Amino acid sequence: MFRMFRGGHSGGWRVTSISPVVGEPLPFVPALSVTDSEAISLPLVPSRNAWRLVGVASTPRYTERAEKQQLTAVQAELGRLGATSAALIPIRKSEAWWELTQEERRKIFEDKSHHIASTLRFLPAIARQLYHSRDLGGPFDFLTWFEFAPPDASLFEELVAMLRQTEEWSYVEHEIDVRLVKEVLSA
Ligand code: HEM
Repeated sequence: MFRMFRGGHSGGWRVTSISPVVGEPLPFVPALSVTDSEAISLPLVPSRNAWRLVGVASTPRYTERAEKQQLTAVQAELGRLGATSAALIPIRKSEAWWELTQEERRKIFEDKSHHIASTLRFLPAIARQLYHSRDLGGPFDFLTWFEFAPPDASLFEELVAMLRQTEEWSYVEHEIDVRLVKEVLSA
């Protein structure tokens, strides 16, 4: 199952900002639609006012048993009623990262950067889902998606600022930060 993020003129989420953290920007679009699909077509012809990113919710690569249990005990599902703020953060890591072995990457990801240990405290306020896209040939390796209630916006800023200081992030060569609010349909 593929998850598709289409930036354009319609969708369930209104885009409030698109900030290039590092690397090429993505064109601003007013709306984002998030859908699932059994199949994906070939990349669309690049357009100046629309884009499409595709990923799959894959199996974990680095998470150990005890961490999995800790995460499962506290994490929240996507789609909570009050979680009307969201962030889509597509990320690509450098060739230097991909040349490392799985073991070397785990050391940087967790032993040195504490990606899991230091972020557990942000759950369940921040609901998250990681989508892998490296093997689909898109411009990013990962599409990361987060949902939270508006009062937790500053908590989310603290979380991203913290991760961007880590050794893991020294391997990030393309990152865009898309912020969104849920469209409320009026009767
Ligand atoms: C809400 C708190 C967060 C928690 C609990 C969390 C947890 C995790 C876990 C468990 C993994 C590993 C999955 C695996 O075993 O393959 C992971 C991977 C990842 N996370 Fe987070 N994360 C959080 C926040 C973030 C944020 C805010 C970002 C982006 C700004 C982010 C970006 C990533 C990326 C890019 C990966 C893939 C790393 C790789 O495979 O090289 N995470 N996260």
